[in-house]
Amino acid sequence: MDSLTILDVHNFGLSLKIKGRHIKIIEGIDFTLKAGSTLALVGESGGGKSLLCKSLLGLIPEGAKTSGNINLFSQENKVKDILSITEREIATIRGKQIGILFQEPVSSMNPVLKCGQQIFDVLPIDYKKNRISGNKHVIDLLDLVGLDNPKRVAKSYPHELSGGMIQKVALAAALAGEPSILIADEPFTALDVLSQIEILKIMTKLKEQLNLSLIIVLHDLELALEYSENLLVMYSGRVMEYGSTGKISTTPAHPYTKALLDVAKSYSENSRPLGIPGEIPSIISPVKGCRFHPRCKYAKEICKNAEPESKKVSQSGNVRCYFPL
Ligand SMILES: Nc1ncnc2c1ncn2[C@@H]1O[C@H](COP(=O)(O)OP(=O)(O)OP(=O)(O)O)[C@@H](O)[C@H]1O
Ligand SMILES: [Mg+2]
Repeated sequence: MDSLTILDVHNFGLSLKIKGRHIKIIEGIDFTLKAGSTLALVGESGGGKSLLCKSLLGLIPEGAKTSGNINLFSQENKVKDILSITEREIATIRGKQIGILFQEPVSSMNPVLKCGQQIFDVLPIDYKKNRISGNKHVIDLLDLVGLDNPKRVAKSYPHELSGGMIQKVALAAALAGEPSILIADEPFTALDVLSQIEILKIMTKLKEQLNLSLIIVLHDLELALEYSENLLVMYSGRVMEYGSTGKISTTPAHPYTKALLDVAKSYSENSRPLGIPGEIPSIISPVKGCRFHPRCKYAKEICKNAEPESKKVSQSGNVRCYFPL
């Protein structure tokens, strides 16, 4: 493990108890996150992206069983497996070592507290000891995330701000605990495209400035390609493809990745947008064999009968397919 790795997820699986039966929802997830890099999680609805993000934060659903490891490396290079530490230890990590940006920023904010106060409340204890320096740090954070009049914003209630401004306040709050990783699960769906791009640009700048690592779930594949170094393509609880964004965007190895890229291309070219034919399988009653085979135009007999293992296709790229492209 080199010193740059900050998170190493190894063979992670999660099963949920549904109607008395344990059902494997997520299986065989492997990836590493490097300090100061962005990993984008993409794939259609129901693929398990949110469940994976929550698991990284130690938010495992009631009654779930997990397997594998989610190893988090601290600055002193100490390792903690999120899956085997106590809830108390996780509480020292969540919001601190790993920050969270929610999908609906408004719902993560208290409507009756001024924005500045809400950020103050989540500052590390050393800042909170002194009200004046604490308040100054709040203003610095609001400034850092690109808000024009940080003093005014600090004095505002959430309902007095636009959606884009609230998302920036939420970003400042997520950064207040000085995390080394920031997880954002579709943080921009409530925003228009220009505001989305603005916040992605700010996050990318902060990533470089603070040596922050980002894990972002993005619905828009074009944005994912532009703003990430690595891509994790999820389908039906599996990682179908993982590797460098540049490589995957030009030479996707999994037919599912290729199909997603073709759909995105059809949107950007403004021709008649395509969809991937066929239905997204229910994760609760999964298909046999490769999960994608009913929708895959390259599927052969073996794809219907047995699920392929994930295999290496390049130095850091993996694909779960018998017949990579
Ligand atoms: N606590 C739970 N109990 C039962 N099923 C669950 C639970 N949490 C998630 N699921 C199921 O697991 C699957 C994966 O869900 P998840 O929300 O992680 O997908 P997603 O990739 O984030 O989708 P979207 O793009 O729509 O946000 C879904 O089929 C969902 O219904
Ligand atoms: Mg989700």
